[in-house]
Amino acid sequence: MNAVKIIGWFLLLGGLVAGCADKDGSREDRAMNRYIDRLLGEMTVEEKIGQLNLTSIEGSVRTGPAIRTGTGEKIVRGEVGGLLNVMSSEKILELQRIAVNESRMGIPLLFGMDVIHGYNTVFPIPLGLSATWNRSSIETAARISAVEASAQGVCWTYSPMVDISYDARWGRVAEGAGEDPYLASEVAVAYVKGYQGNLTRNDQILACVKHFALYGAPEGGKDYNTVDMSRMRMFNEYFPPFEAAVKAGVGSLMTAFNEVEGVPAGANDWLMSDVLRQRWGFDGFVVTDWDAVREMTVHGIGDLQGVSVRALKAGLDMDMASQGFAGTLKKSYDEGKVTLQQIDRACRRILEAKYKLGLFADPYKYCDTARVKTDVFTPAHRAEARRIAAESFVLLKNRDNILPLDKKGSIAVIGPLADNRSNIVGTWSLGADYRTPVTILDGLRRTVGDRVELRYAKGCNLTYDTALERRVSQWGKSFPRDGRSDAAMREEALALARRSDVVVAVMGEAAEMSGEGASRTSLDIPDAQKELLEKLEATGKPIVLVLCTGRPLTLAWEQEHLDAILNIWFPGTEAGLAVSDVLFGDAEPGGRLTMTFPRSLGQVPIRYHHRKTGRPPHPDGSIAAYVTGYIDETHLPLYPFGYGLSYTTFGYGKVLLDKQTIHEGETLTARVEVTNTGTRGGNEVVQLYIGDRVGSVTRPVKELKGFEKIHLEPGERRTVSFTITPELLKFYDNRLEYILEPGEFEVMIGPDSHRTKSAVFTLTAAD
Ligand code: BGC
Repeated sequence: MNAVKIIGWFLLLGGLVAGCADKDGSREDRAMNRYIDRLLGEMTVEEKIGQLNLTSIEGSVRTGPAIRTGTGEKIVRGEVGGLLNVMSSEKILELQRIAVNESRMGIPLLFGMDVIHGYNTVFPIPLGLSATWNRSSIETAARISAVEASAQGVCWTYSPMVDISYDARWGRVAEGAGEDPYLASEVAVAYVKGYQGNLTRNDQILACVKHFALYGAPEGGKDYNTVDMSRMRMFNEYFPPFEAAVKAGVGSLMTAFNEVEGVPAGANDWLMSDVLRQRWGFDGFVVTDWDAVREMTVHGIGDLQGVSVRALKAGLDMDMASQGFAGTLKKSYDEGKVTLQQIDRACRRILEAKYKLGLFADPYKYCDTARVKTDVFTPAHRAEARRIAAESFVLLKNRDNILPLDKKGSIAVIGPLADNRSNIVGTWSLGADYRTPVTILDGLRRTVGDRVELRYAKGCNLTYDTALERRVSQWGKSFPRDGRSDAAMREEALALARRSDVVVAVMGEAAEMSGEGASRTSLDIPDAQKELLEKLEATGKPIVLVLCTGRPLTLAWEQEHLDAILNIWFPGTEAGLAVSDVLFGDAEPGGRLTMTFPRSLGQVPIRYHHRKTGRPPHPDGSIAAYVTGYIDETHLPLYPFGYGLSYTTFGYGKVLLDKQTIHEGETLTARVEVTNTGTRGGNEVVQLYIGDRVGSVTRPVKELKGFEKIHLEPGERRTVSFTITPELLKFYDNRLEYILEPGEFEVMIGPDSHRTKSAVFTLTAAD
């Protein structure tokens, strides 16, 4: 029996006794520390370094004897701390058995996976989830993801990604929560709660907030590119969601690929030690992104041994995939370039995570293979995915209330995305079975049966650019080219449109046109589809565009010419049902934008909370020279942050404040009466923005500081109140002090970041 097994039994008993005797965490911490001290005392340096190694399976991935070669042998030698992307519970069970029974120390492995927006049941992509503006829906999606992933042996997810971005060229905006630090912080907390909840259970898993830091601000929107920005900006705009995740107890954090102030994030001492540990008190462990330690050699800051030393000293604990730590740290230790304390520090943090997950007490906690039958892709999970997908859809345009459609007459469903199963699950859907998602066409057919004459034509291929089409057909998400000519496909679609009452055009990006490594220099709907849309519009038939996208697109033509635009992002496995729910009015389009949609590519990067300049643009959007804007385009976006229509309308009363003046330390209440002025019940996201009129440093024109989602029946009115605390008025100045400055503040409340009503109050200094 190996060391871990013996102490494991004591741990189980001790834990039970301690748990009964004392609910106080500190006693458990003491028990954990004693346990890990003992382990560290018995481990060799090589075994400690092994814990810092996160790797994927090399060689055969079959179970059985083959698993014992390559990675299996390394596990036996104690050279592996965790594995990522092992896609089978049987295999995980077997690998865990090897670690526990055949390695000298018997330390269990971590099994990590990119469970990003669902596992077998796939939810909308994260940008879509953020558009729900619903903390509880996001928490539910994360919770279900944890249940399904843990049923298949996964105990650690590389989510949430909360990188702020203002640049829609960058494909990974699909995986974030948009442009706003306040909203992204709320979203981060919801994910962490959903994944981790109570880690004593076997259906909650460790979260990993990523990518720290500034990954969303690459120059030119090119993925992995250089970033350079002031610390004041980092603290005010890019760091808040990470800090929020840390405060919510996130167990791990992933560093970014990019440099921060000239040093790649995974070797950046200031980021990992000063900011993360000292300022925020993070007590989890830090892992790099894929191969990032080795990539530091390509960044040009040293050879593999040198960068590995630098990363460890800076506070990195685990090396994902590069073998930098595994391959060089022992040599560095022998040469006195790193100390045992530095290795122990990193090793301890990883062992702590394993302890907190309960893996020492029961290494097979996540290996209950029976759960695959009961806990995965269940009707209840799918029902939530359907509801949440509808809640993420953003209605961008609805001329003459053409939506919701009646379930009668004839509908032409047109477009290369209408009948594609693998595409609608979006960019990260490792656990999805591509036979199961409900296509848009399927969903509409199932909903209307034979009440509506529903006909389909593909109309065009994804794009005329066959090279691009090939690139986006990776990961099994294929867009088979139609054997017919472009002209023949188009004619079929146009003939169908002419014979139908209304056209539902399902078009936009393919899933793999956004996400990692998918930056674009055009934000238009791909050429072939755009051309078909124009021709469809020329038929004079009403056109409803159901838009698939992983990023803000430039839709000025569509806004001007089409009748309705419903942005569905990539909705997940229940896509078709959620789309038909919304198109026919059985559900509301519940989403509001969390990223500004520009009018044209030249406006990017763009965000609503920009700082004031000495030459502000005209608020009405008119074009002028010598102001902060363009001479050939308004500065205003097409759709602002927070925007989204409903099937009903809402009226906002005046913004009322209970005090005109407050002293430091006091709070005030802002109220607004919201009325459903339409004829249907509906949901509204009431948004609170605050603008600091004068600061010691320039301040944003406004910043989101609260929101509430309400439901009102026709004619119903409700007063929505927000408490404005000093915390909401604070910011980092250019000395990085988090300060509260007396002065005037404007409180703005409305349905989006542009259409607000306001009132002003004064904050005075304490006597
Ligand atoms: C991505 C990460 C991901 C990792 C592991 C990287 O390429 O940037 O977000 O977690 O791969 O799959």
